[in-house]
Amino acid sequence: MRNPLPPVPGKLLELEVSDDVRRGTPLATLIAAPSEEDGDAGLEEIGGVRPTGKAGDVQTVPTGGVRWLAGVGDGEPKQYRKAGAALVRAVSSALEEDVKAGQKAFRAFAVELPEDAGAEHVEELAFGLLLGGYRFTVTAEEPKQSLRTVRLITRHGGDLERVRELAAAAAFARDLANTPSNVKTPAWLAETAVRVAGGIPNLTVTARDEKWLAEQGFGGVLAVGGGSAAPPRLIELEYRPRGAKTHLLLVGKGITFDTGGLSIKPADGMHLMRTDMAGGAAIIAAVRAIAALRLPVKVTALVPAAENHVSGSSYRPGDIVRHYGGKTTEVGNTDAEGRMVLADALVYGIKKHKPDAVIDAATLTGAMKVSLGVRTGGVFATDDALAERVTKAGERVGEAWWRMPLLEDLAETVQGSLGDVRQAPGGPGGIVAALFLREFVGDLPWAHLDIAGPARADKTYADVVPGATGFAARTLVELVASYA
Ligand code: BES
Ligand code: ZN
Ligand code: ZN
Repeated sequence: MRNPLPPVPGKLLELEVSDDVRRGTPLATLIAAPSEEDGDAGLEEIGGVRPTGKAGDVQTVPTGGVRWLAGVGDGEPKQYRKAGAALVRAVSSALEEDVKAGQKAFRAFAVELPEDAGAEHVEELAFGLLLGGYRFTVTAEEPKQSLRTVRLITRHGGDLERVRELAAAAAFARDLANTPSNVKTPAWLAETAVRVAGGIPNLTVTARDEKWLAEQGFGGVLAVGGGSAAPPRLIELEYRPRGAKTHLLLVGKGITFDTGGLSIKPADGMHLMRTDMAGGAAIIAAVRAIAALRLPVKVTALVPAAENHVSGSSYRPGDIVRHYGGKTTEVGNTDAEGRMVLADALVYGIKKHKPDAVIDAATLTGAMKVSLGVRTGGVFATDDALAERVTKAGERVGEAWWRMPLLEDLAETVQGSLGDVRQAPGGPGGIVAALFLREFVGDLPWAHLDIAGPARADKTYADVVPGATGFAARTLVELVASYA
C-alpha cells in the first residue's frame, strides 16, 4: 500500500543570496508604502500598476521585468516577514496558474530588496519566504511542479544559516503536529524522532517502550497511555557537544491524540486534539536544530508520548497514580492528562540528568486560550531571569510570550488529601496546572510554556498558515543559543 502521507520532514525552499538578477527568473520587488513626499497620487506606476506598498499586499505586473510587487509598509523588519509570506503564497499560486495554462513552469524566483534593507530585514524576509508557503496536504495527486529556490538580490546577507535551521525547526514541528493520529501513534512519533534527529553528530535519540516504562515506574505515562491500543513511549534526546558549560533539560507533552479519556471531550473540537503533542514536537525539532547548529550547550530532551483514549483499560477519575520517583496524584479528570505524563518525565529528567535549568512546553490547558488568545504563549517560571530569557528569545525569532503568575494563594489547591497531589482541583486552569507541575520540579530554575493557544492557527497571519504552527520551536533554539 502507498504511504498515505507526505514525507516528514517536508522540504524547505532553498535560499540563495546573489547580487545580480539572472535572466529568465521571474522577479519580485519590495516596495515601501508611500510617504508624504510621494504626495496624494502615491507611488509611481510600475508596468502600468500603481503599487500600494501595504505590508502583505502582492500585486501582479502583467508586463515588463518585474512580475510581483510586494509591499513592506513602513519598512520595519517585522513587515518584511509578512511581505515574504504573502509573496511566496502569491508566487506559488502563479506557478500553479502557469502550469494550468500549459506554460513552462519556473522552479526559482528572485526577490529584489531595497538598498536600505539590512541584515535584520533580510532575515525576517527569509522567515516569511521559508514558512509562509508551508503546506501539509494529503491528496491523491501530488503537485508535479513546485517552487524550489528563492534568490535574494541584496548585498546584506544576514545569518541565513541560522534562519534556515530555525525555519526548518518550525516546519518540522508543524509536520509532526499536523500528521493525523491514525498514523501518529506514540511509536510513530518515537521512530520519527530517531530517524530524523538521530545521525546528527553528538546527538543520540532513544525510544523507551511500555515495558521499560513499567519497570522504571512511570505511573503517569502508563495510566494515560493505558486506554489506548497504541502503547506509550518515552523519547529521550541527548545532545552532548564538546566544551559546554550549561546543561538544560527540555520536556515536551507528547499526547498523540487527546479524547479526554473517560472524562471525554465534546465531539465538536475533538479532531483538533491531534496536535496535542505540539509541545513535544517543538522540543524534538528544536533539539535537532540545536545539534545541527552545533550550539555549545548540553541539552537533554524528554517527550513522554501517549494516546489518551477511552476503553476498558482507561484510567479513571478517582484513581491514585504513583509517578516516577514515588509521589502520588489523585486523578480528578482524565482530560488533565498532560500534567500526568509531564510529572513523570520532569522527575526522571531531573534525577537522572541533573540539569542546571528545566523548560517544559505543552498544549496544557484550554484556559490559556481565554487568557492570552491564540497568538501568544504563556510563560510560568520560578526564576525571573529565565522567564526574561524566554520572552527575549521569542522576540528575536517572532514568537510572542507573556509571563503568567504562579499564584501562591492557589498553591494549596493542588495539595492532595488521599494522595500527595491533586490533579485537577478547579480554579484558573493554566495557573493551577502550572502549580501542579511545580510540585515535581523542586528548586531548579524552571519555566513552563503553555502553548495551548498559539500551537495551532485557524487563520493565516505573519508566517503562519492554518493548522499546526510549530510555535515554541524557534524560541527554544534561540533560548538555548543564549547560553552558548
Ligand atoms: N489538551 C488539552 C488542552 C487544550 C485545549 C489544548 C484546547 C489545546 C486546545 C488538555 O489536555 C485538557 O484537556 N485540559 C483540560 C484540563 C482540565 C480538565 C483541568 C482543560 O483545559 O480543559
Ligand atoms: Zn491534552
Ligand atoms: Zn486533555
